[in-house]
Amino acid sequence: MKLLISTAFLALSSFAVIADAHISFRYPCPRRGPYSECPQPNDNQWDLVDYDVQSPLGTHDQITDPICKHPSSFAGVRPTFQAGQTIAAKMDVDVNHNGGSCQWALSYDNGTTWVVIQDHFQDCLATAPAGSTYTLPVTIPANAPTGNNVILNWIWNNNEGNRELYSSCADIVIQGTNGGSLSGVAPLFANYGPSSPFIPEKAVSGGNWGQQYFAARKPITVTIPPTKLKRQIAPLK
Ligand SMILES: *[C@@H]1O[C@H](CO)[C@@H](O)[C@H](O)[C@H]1NC(C)=O
Repeated sequence: MKLLISTAFLALSSFAVIADAHISFRYPCPRRGPYSECPQPNDNQWDLVDYDVQSPLGTHDQITDPICKHPSSFAGVRPTFQAGQTIAAKMDVDVNHNGGSCQWALSYDNGTTWVVIQDHFQDCLATAPAGSTYTLPVTIPANAPTGNNVILNWIWNNNEGNRELYSSCADIVIQGTNGGSLSGVAPLFANYGPSSPFIPEKAVSGGNWGQQYFAARKPITVTIPPTKLKRQIAPLK
């Protein structure tokens, strides 16, 4: 009996640890994160700092936050990346949930449409140590158009623990072609409220890690018009 009780306690307490575990971007800066090297709130925005920026957007039962977690960043300088550049992105890892499936997507229209630019299925972050800042590279497509207000979204479904969706967004500048299009698939937002696709825990799923839903993502192309270069004209008097 004593053994049973302590086993039950152990199971409960390890579940509690898993349920609390979180991951977000650390670099580039996640929206409204509490990191000193990131854009800071102004005097009226201190209550908007997200000290729990690593937490998920909710579970399959309930949505608690919008995609990206926050609608905007604090004002500040956005990092600039070149089309084709591999960013040595850094993730702030609490506990890794035994990994999961990562998607990275770009939006050129303030989060209305997303194009997936990279996938890492099944074991994404599985080897990221708890409590670490873990480098997880992401490559901007070589044909990505220039954009001064681009959102880079890291999206993650975890393998173990609550059936959660994570999304951490960084506001960035991309220097690429002046106008053009970007094609890919629209991201899967699974385990995000009762009407979203459900991905079970990998360890108990009999091999189902949501592959059918990832395979069914819809192709999408976004087109960004060229910016007309402003000619240097003396102002009319
Ligand atoms: C982007 O959309 C959010 C809502 O999701 C809104 O709060 C914000 O003002 C928008 N930003 C711009 C630059 O339009």
